[in-house]
Amino acid sequence: MKSIAHPIGLLVILSFHASAFAQNRFVPNYDESAIPAYELPSALVTTKGASITDASMWHKSRRPEVLELFKTQVYGRSPAACEIQYELVSEKRDAIKGKAIRREVDVRMITGSQSTTMRLLIYTPKSSPSVPVFVGLNFQGNHTVDAAKDISITKNWVRNRNDGKNNRAMESSRGTAAGRWQIETIIDRGYGLVTIYYGDIDPDFADGFKNGIHPQFEQEMSSVPEGERWGSIAAWSYGLSRAVDYFEQDDAIDASRVAVIGHSRLGKTSLWAGASDPRFKLVISNNSGCGGAALSRRAVGETVGRINTSFPHWFSDNYLQYNENENACPVDQHMLLALIAPRAVYVASATKDKWADPKGEFLSCVHADPVYRLLGTQGMGDKRPPAEFPAAEAPVKSGHVGYHLRTGKHDVTDYDWAQYLDFADRHLK
Ligand code: GCU
Repeated sequence: MKSIAHPIGLLVILSFHASAFAQNRFVPNYDESAIPAYELPSALVTTKGASITDASMWHKSRRPEVLELFKTQVYGRSPAACEIQYELVSEKRDAIKGKAIRREVDVRMITGSQSTTMRLLIYTPKSSPSVPVFVGLNFQGNHTVDAAKDISITKNWVRNRNDGKNNRAMESSRGTAAGRWQIETIIDRGYGLVTIYYGDIDPDFADGFKNGIHPQFEQEMSSVPEGERWGSIAAWSYGLSRAVDYFEQDDAIDASRVAVIGHSRLGKTSLWAGASDPRFKLVISNNSGCGGAALSRRAVGETVGRINTSFPHWFSDNYLQYNENENACPVDQHMLLALIAPRAVYVASATKDKWADPKGEFLSCVHADPVYRLLGTQGMGDKRPPAEFPAAEAPVKSGHVGYHLRTGKHDVTDYDWAQYLDFADRHLK
């Protein structure tokens, strides 16, 4: 006998599925009037309630406490610096219309018999020795930042985008990200540029940390509580710090004048690198959003719960506690910026990048400002309290905390670079 589905039963099942789906579907909030009530933890009051009233109290007690909270609750605890070895892979002495020397240097990060190699693509102006540099990770491979035919193509895993197939980088993607890197302008302004493919350090997908740099530290990590172990953002930041270890041995680079820059997830990464390693003298966050510069408690656009669901490998497992529960977190992202103080920090947003909550990125700067002032800098500039949320193309960049909102989408443009270079002229030169 044939069984025939009962039409009413089918309807019930269908509607049950529809409502379950609606419950699981994430609906971002973009309405300022619907932001949940929140109180930001103060950067200048310790966990035990003591007020921080001078620079030495900040450096001796509050800063270490905040840093520890970001390690245990947000990004995870990274291993101590490992040994590095390096090797020059290629050198071109007339790159960028003859203005720059371009090198590829392999930096091997070593623990015992295991190692991970990242390839640095380095541009330095021909004319000047020992220059300040910008260092930043790239998303699709070093060959995408410059169309030159002789830059090596990574053999590591890449994301499948327009320019990658079967998770392999392709010849046809040479130069596809060049617009984001402005190499000639950077060189003309007297800076070097170093970029590294982020997948060399840790491929960007959840696999229980079997690939990339994580496994070589398995033994060291076994004594760290599981919830506090480092995620991928911490691993990428770790690679950036090992790049600085290398700069200290490269005569063409002034390792005391390094700016770290990153876009989006790599902007979250540049902030964590800058917060955890004081050798970065300028820290640039381009459209970093949730888990980067944006205040988590506003829950505008991407939220902690959403990011931990889509990208479970980016943060520590302890961070999961704050899914739809941001108020319980002992830190918010303005405190990440405060960890960088008194070194310079620049946060940039884009008008169409609502997912990253531009206003939340700006407010982080505003709430980091008191720490910058306590440490004797001008914070966001001479206006006190800092200016209102600025209009597009009206950068706030006269102090140690820079901010701009740019018209347009989630991206890095020549407008963004023009602001970063001006800011760097003031803080690195
Ligand atoms: C996603 C993610 C963001 C991230 C971005 C990116 O949109 O939700 O948090 O910043 O990817 O890195 O491109």
